[in-house]
Amino acid sequence: MNLDLDLNKILIIDFGSQFTQLIARRVRELGVFSEIISHKKIKSKNINNSIKGIILSGGPLNVYDLKKYSFDKNIIQKKIPILGICFGHQILSKINGGKVKQSKHREFGLANILKKKSSPLTKNFFKKKHTKVWMSHADQVSKLPSNFKVIASSQNSKFAIVANELKKFYGVQFHPEVTHTDNGKILISNFIFSICKIRKNWSTKNQRIKLIKEVKTQVGNDKVICALSGGVDSSVVAQLLNKAIGKKLYCIFVNTGLLRKNEEKQVIATFKKKLKMNLIYVNAEKEFIKNLKNISDPEKKRKIIGNLFIKIFERYAKKIKNVKFLAQGTLYPDLIESKSVTGSKTSKIKSHHNVGGLPKKMKLKLVEPLKFLFKDEVRKLGLELNLGKEIITRHPFPGPGLAIRIPGIITNEKIKILKEADFYFIKALKDYGLYNKIWQAYAALLPVKTVGVMGDNRTYEYLCLLRAITSEDGMTADFYEFKKSFIQMISNKIVNSIRGINRVVYDVTSKPPSTIELE
Ligand code: XMP
Repeated sequence: MNLDLDLNKILIIDFGSQFTQLIARRVRELGVFSEIISHKKIKSKNINNSIKGIILSGGPLNVYDLKKYSFDKNIIQKKIPILGICFGHQILSKINGGKVKQSKHREFGLANILKKKSSPLTKNFFKKKHTKVWMSHADQVSKLPSNFKVIASSQNSKFAIVANELKKFYGVQFHPEVTHTDNGKILISNFIFSICKIRKNWSTKNQRIKLIKEVKTQVGNDKVICALSGGVDSSVVAQLLNKAIGKKLYCIFVNTGLLRKNEEKQVIATFKKKLKMNLIYVNAEKEFIKNLKNISDPEKKRKIIGNLFIKIFERYAKKIKNVKFLAQGTLYPDLIESKSVTGSKTSKIKSHHNVGGLPKKMKLKLVEPLKFLFKDEVRKLGLELNLGKEIITRHPFPGPGLAIRIPGIITNEKIKILKEADFYFIKALKDYGLYNKIWQAYAALLPVKTVGVMGDNRTYEYLCLLRAITSEDGMTADFYEFKKSFIQMISNKIVNSIRGINRVVYDVTSKPPSTIELE
């Protein structure tokens, strides 16, 4: 087992559920250290005094398919509380003498469970007699082991929550770790605090210490390069590595000419001047504009930008010499998406270009210290690493930058106009205290000119589109409802201040059917 910090912990045994990291996240949120270990690796001899409780995850397995999983039965003799979730519940029941079989009705989605008995596990979990939980299973426990009692049932799952209070073994057929389960966090909290009696011992500070230590161990004395975009994820990775290995980290920041107004100045001021990082600033504005000349197809734009970025990145990485590692700001949801955990093939909507994710052929080993964290945890870590609030609360910005906010052909003139419009819009959001209520906002320049009248003169200028959305994760989104006075004010400001725009429209489509970006 790979543990650096000598802390009491909850051990999560992973049977391949797509929610295992979510269980760990819930335990972290409750302020307790947890460690995930694969079912293939854990043996009863690894169970030491620091393990105060065990959670068995769900998984796509069948308890009778013994070739597909391993579980050392002696673990249950260790007198440590165990919570089995879904498959974990089934295996815990089977090992204790119960039976599992295929459910008559497979359950995927919300189910109502009815309270039958009280248990320390469910204290404050049932606000009424019933509560809503999220199920995802094909098999279920059909015979309960002796000394287990039923705490709650659903129409399809007689043994939705079961307990052996003496041994402190608990099984739940549903997923308390997902937000769709009402009060799921209360159930997990009851398990870890009331039943396992572990004390709070985990904070973002510990997270920082642990990650820095792990990075140091991984890269030793070797050089690491990092593509810095100025966005939250790459900034946090860069600062984490900066703290871990200092001048052995080389950050490459490419000015594509498609950044927001003054962005390059801000990145240099923060990372080079304030944080004293090894920052290589590459001004490639001309190269990008030249390569994008007369290109209007969105996919072609994305490919040109992506390829050019790799070329420049490789060029500079070579100059540094003897680089062994590439640091990337991959987050846990990115891993889930790229692995397609559901197994379903999704159709390609856009070729996403993530600046850190491309130079595969450089044969560098990856350093991905954030790969088990979620976005809000990364933001907290960033604050803990003294990256200012300004960077941490920034809206996401796509790799291809303003190129995908200028549908049609890109010219220097259009970029200049758009930078100004976007600057006024974002500044107004900040001035009016709206910026942090909105997940992402931007201005775009549409490739149509319309007629207007200013003073007594006819104008014939571009159309500016404003987009502001609310979202959890960018996968779905809704437009933000501004007050009329705000939208009126910003429209006036843009039209009156920027030559080249004489009309402003606000995008009121959600995602789906639209996407957040225009291309
Ligand atoms: P869409 O337009 O697909 O955007 O609804 C969802 C989120 O992803 C961002 N986005 C990108 N981010 N490289 C990135 O790093 C890209 O190529 C890219 N395209 C879109 C977009 O800004 C939104 O936050």
